[in-house]
Amino acid sequence: MSKSFYLTTPLYYVNDEPHLGHAYTTILADVLSRYHRLFGEDVHFLTGTDEHGQKVANAATKAGKDPKLYCDGLAQRFIDVWEQLGISNDDFIRTTEPRHEKIVVDVLNKLNEKGEIYKKDYVGWYSVFEEQFFTEKDLIDGKDPIGHRPVEKIQETNYFFKMSKYQDWLIDYYTKNKDAVLPEFRMNEVLGFLRKPLEDLCISRPKSRLSWGIPIPWDTDYVTYVWFDALLNYYSATLSPPEGTHPTWPADYHLIGKDILTTHAVYWPTMLKAADLEPPKHIFAHGWWLAKDSAKMSKSTGNVIKPLDLATVYGADVFRYVLMREMVLGQDASFSEESFIKRVNSDLANDLGNLVSRVAKIQSKHFPGETLHLEDTEEDEIFELARKTTFSVRTMVENLQIHSAIEETLQFIRAINRDFTLAEPWKSAKSDPQSARNALARALEGIRIASVLLSPIMPNKIQELMKRIGAPASDQYEWEDTAWNTTTRAKESFFDEPVFPRVNAPKQATEKKESPAKKEELKISPDGLLPIERFKEVELKTARIKSAEPVKGTDKLMRLEIDLGSEERQLVAGIQQHYTPEKLVGKLIIVVANLQPAKIRGVRSEGMLLAVRDGDSLNLLTVDANVPPGLKIS
Ligand code: ME8
Ligand code: MG
Repeated sequence: MSKSFYLTTPLYYVNDEPHLGHAYTTILADVLSRYHRLFGEDVHFLTGTDEHGQKVANAATKAGKDPKLYCDGLAQRFIDVWEQLGISNDDFIRTTEPRHEKIVVDVLNKLNEKGEIYKKDYVGWYSVFEEQFFTEKDLIDGKDPIGHRPVEKIQETNYFFKMSKYQDWLIDYYTKNKDAVLPEFRMNEVLGFLRKPLEDLCISRPKSRLSWGIPIPWDTDYVTYVWFDALLNYYSATLSPPEGTHPTWPADYHLIGKDILTTHAVYWPTMLKAADLEPPKHIFAHGWWLAKDSAKMSKSTGNVIKPLDLATVYGADVFRYVLMREMVLGQDASFSEESFIKRVNSDLANDLGNLVSRVAKIQSKHFPGETLHLEDTEEDEIFELARKTTFSVRTMVENLQIHSAIEETLQFIRAINRDFTLAEPWKSAKSDPQSARNALARALEGIRIASVLLSPIMPNKIQELMKRIGAPASDQYEWEDTAWNTTTRAKESFFDEPVFPRVNAPKQATEKKESPAKKEELKISPDGLLPIERFKEVELKTARIKSAEPVKGTDKLMRLEIDLGSEERQLVAGIQQHYTPEKLVGKLIIVVANLQPAKIRGVRSEGMLLAVRDGDSLNLLTVDANVPPGLKIS
């Protein structure tokens, strides 16, 4: 029987639409699931929605809707967004489902019968945003210590779970199971928290204050506290009817953000322990995506990025790739569209995309449809590197170092690129066809293996890519597929359009996606020819030289003042040895008008003039008619 692997995301509050932070954890869980399926494991991947509590009740009221109907609508939004982002969850649980409510009731009854629950008067500070009680000491400047949001003082009679009595057990458990909370520095944080006396956990809300929740089974005046309810989802989703067993419990990984570390690493294991259930094997808390101003992205700060906007503009797989590559798992990362674009262009368009285009093109030109046999595999550097890369990627993924696994694969791709360039198969195709075939087969096989390794990140794009190189396209590769084949079947024809088009400039995330025809125009074709649209990005204009003087301390540079029709500018050009100032003034020249300004020898230059060199002489370009300055050259 294959090894089972059960992993979960948090259940997201349905007080709003999914945002980048939610998308990140869910994509991370999906990528891990797909890797573990690639490793041959029997994966069970759970996500879902957290639908009870004050926060959701308030949102429903604000929307003027019945809470359940309100949740139905938002849960569907999450389901839809996950589908569009290629999320392959095996289950989606909503805390309003009967299968979950039943388990919550069972566990409450069990703990109550065991004497783990009691009723008392309580005064505490409640944060609706975090749905958590804090003590006076916890507060920082009168705000909640996690998100620094307002808290309200609440004094009421509630039910409490005797969490404090599990403090010693939990410390002992974590001391013996150091990897139960990851990364390591988070475990230290949890152990630090556990050095202070642990309080009992308030697990109810009086119905008079909040009615939206699972009723406390023995006291209908109360509903269950939302965290006590929601955490149990991880267990209730594993229920296998009709036997009533929970075959996949305990979970291998709970993936969470660092904001909900305490609830997961302290409340949850003590709840399980009290209910005679096993704790999860690992809790992994990742960092936050921050907006450029270092604020956490969240709905109430109004700086959220809607994942679907970006996925629509750049494509879901590209979006998945960049999120996985840009965040060092465990650390915070800041999000900007500029760095997003940089990453797409450097890794996907340049390193991977260009290689695929070059190789596929040369192959279909010289050996269309031929089966290529690779000779001397054993001594081959790329073959060795493929083995090494495959091994490291697996190890890194098993240690949740996704960004490193990606970088390792990209290093391999860069090595294939260098090998291919050095081998120059386009030159040897006629003179030494077997060496050209070897170079091609090596590159094709390397690309294929790298693609299998990237398939969990970009499941759809990789299928497209595989088709370009004539390799089998699948949405589920097997680990055996990472083994080197000495025979590669060449493609018969070449696809013109790149798999990963370059992205030119930050697009507004809200901008409509360009039509495929329009996008097609903007790419440099594999033969290196420039589409007319790209040429039009360079703004050439006529200009009249108004004054000219040598730049002090130089013998080459001339400072020019030019009239561009609607404006005057200053240029610096290396023409001192070819023109006297007298000869320059009044001349009509051609300049590049939309260059970024530069400083040349300390003098600002706002453009570039066009000239042609013939041996020792340099001649300015001009127009064969008497036209005014400032005209656009087309
Ligand atoms: O806390 N960066 O739900 P929630 C990275 N319902 N990840 C982020 C993020 C950001 N800026 N913002 C949110 C809840 N996340 C509870 C959980 S579990 C039984 C109940 C991700 O909607 C991250 O995974 O506030 C974080 O832990 C989670 O969304 C919080 O989602
Ligand atoms: Mg939150």
